[in-house]
Amino acid sequence: MAKDLMFQNEIKEAVRDAYAGISTGAGETVARWLYSDEELAEVPAGAVAWALGVGNPVRYALLQPGEDVLDVGSGGGIDSILAARRVGPQGSVIGLDILEEMCERGRRHATEAGVNGWTQFRRGEMEDIPLPDGSIDVVISNGVMNLSARKSRALAEIYRVLRPGGRVSMADLTVEGELPPEIANDQSAWAG
Ligand SMILES: C[S@@+](CC[C@H](N)C(=O)[O-])C[C@H]1O[C@@H](n2cnc3c(N)ncnc32)[C@H](O)[C@@H]1O
Repeated sequence: MAKDLMFQNEIKEAVRDAYAGISTGAGETVARWLYSDEELAEVPAGAVAWALGVGNPVRYALLQPGEDVLDVGSGGGIDSILAARRVGPQGSVIGLDILEEMCERGRRHATEAGVNGWTQFRRGEMEDIPLPDGSIDVVISNGVMNLSARKSRALAEIYRVLRPGGRVSMADLTVEGELPPEIANDQSAWAG
């Protein structure tokens, strides 16, 4: 455990560098595996091209008009925009991402989608969410928790910002069993 603590900053830097270095998302072909035609029609082409997730958390979040949503690791904003359509202008969506350039993409795509009035993107880390306690109804996240070297801390932060009775809808990758050391210690594997 102490050894893990020593490498947390290195892992965070590797993940941040990896996502700062990419020039596009997984693209429409991958997005079509995760989202229906109807869902893809709700978001601008740029947000589809920048999709980097592994699932479809909005589909299972049962979002209601007026709810306040936090999208942890929002990337180019595809799920934030889908969430914004469901909660409407009586609600709100905050996309949180460690990279300012991802937040800028999210803002651009939300403006193109016409949901920018109630959707904002903030730079910040899931391990230290810059929001008050009990301020969010639903946390969504897509392909992000696996990137954290401090998953317990990130989950505690999600719990802290949720209102009593709040919900989480998260799509992510998990490992069953032990990874071989050459993968567990490979920084590019953490980011990938
Ligand atoms: C695999 S992408 C997923 C993006 C988006 N959820 C989607 O479905 O397209 C991971 C995102 O998490 C962000 N990220 C990585 N580490 C983070 C952290 N510690 N806190 C907040 N965001 C982080 C990356 O910058 C990147 O935009």
